[in-house]
Amino acid sequence: MSQGPLDSVFADENIERIVSSSIDSIDNLNSLEDFKNLKNRVIGENSDIALVNRAIGKLDQSQKAEAGKKVTEARNRISQKLDKKLTELENQHQNNLLQSEAVDVTEVVAARKDAISISGSRHPLTVIAEIICDVFTSLGYSIQEGPEAEATWFNFDSLNISPSHPSRSPSDTFYLNEIYSQVVLRTQTSPVQMRAMLKQKPPLYVIAPGKVFRSDELDVTHTPVFHQVEGLAVDKNLNMSHLKGTLDHLAKKLFGDGVETRFRPSFFPFTEPSAELDVRCFVCKDQKNSKNCKTCKGNGWIEWGGCGMVNPNVLETAGIDSKKFSGFAFGMGLERTLMFRHGIEDMHYLVEADLRFSSKFGMGI
Ligand code: DAH
Repeated sequence: MSQGPLDSVFADENIERIVSSSIDSIDNLNSLEDFKNLKNRVIGENSDIALVNRAIGKLDQSQKAEAGKKVTEARNRISQKLDKKLTELENQHQNNLLQSEAVDVTEVVAARKDAISISGSRHPLTVIAEIICDVFTSLGYSIQEGPEAEATWFNFDSLNISPSHPSRSPSDTFYLNEIYSQVVLRTQTSPVQMRAMLKQKPPLYVIAPGKVFRSDELDVTHTPVFHQVEGLAVDKNLNMSHLKGTLDHLAKKLFGDGVETRFRPSFFPFTEPSAELDVRCFVCKDQKNSKNCKTCKGNGWIEWGGCGMVNPNVLETAGIDSKKFSGFAFGMGLERTLMFRHGIEDMHYLVEADLRFSSKFGMGI
């Protein structure tokens, strides 16, 4: 039985017309951006082929299978053409990108006016370490270095740090190989104290700059890799006032003649007594006017480092008679020192090797 107008819908010519006009449109497409629209137009919900497909529902049951097959074949032809076109357009897009982003590494570029006119510069951390070492070598100290991958014995045990001390936790300390194994990335320069004492008999005056590591995220005030400088003196009759005088001298060299320092009682396992070392804020100077001071945050004082008299246990571990000799030690962070010395507010500046930053320091700090 005839289906009237439906006959013409499913006529080969009609389906062929839909397929070839869709294929023509696909052939004419030449930009990836228009692909989605065209795809919608030729096989989307309201496309001609979708309308024909929907009309199948109105056919007699006996005609449905054949019509369905016809429509599916037609739709597949359009889809295949679309797939081919998409690959073609994507390749073309990729090639265009490669061409437009190609860099001629041989091209000679004229120097920019604002470019840095020097060919390189030392990092401010290197410079400040050198300044501090100079201060101490002129006092008769010798410079000593220790390994960055350090035995836990040197980093902790030999410094009187108990086996259960929280600083040994893997959330603070990087262990090499396994957690709680015997080698760590040193968390402080203090192990150089023990290395120095084992190497040389007192009197001993040592300054030890170096890199240290802690499991911290890089943020405005922290970095997992930073620098410290450690000082150690072991001699007859050394006391806290020698320590205070030495650190005062360093503070004056770094922050200016008028600068004051103070000790606050503290605790470190390797020193007894121990103190925190503060520097009077050399920017606002006066506590009363310091509320808005960016350098001391209104405290009037800046925390700088730790220090104390070497714990007799530590001297004895190094084979030094603690009845005959006494010692003092100190340690401070170089990043922190640079940051408050120069009003650097973000640690990122010190970590990222941007020459525009380093060059401000490199030629003499
Ligand atoms: N090692 C300590 C730290 O990283 C700093 C320190 C404190 C070093 C007291 C010392 C000292 O030599 O005596 O926090």
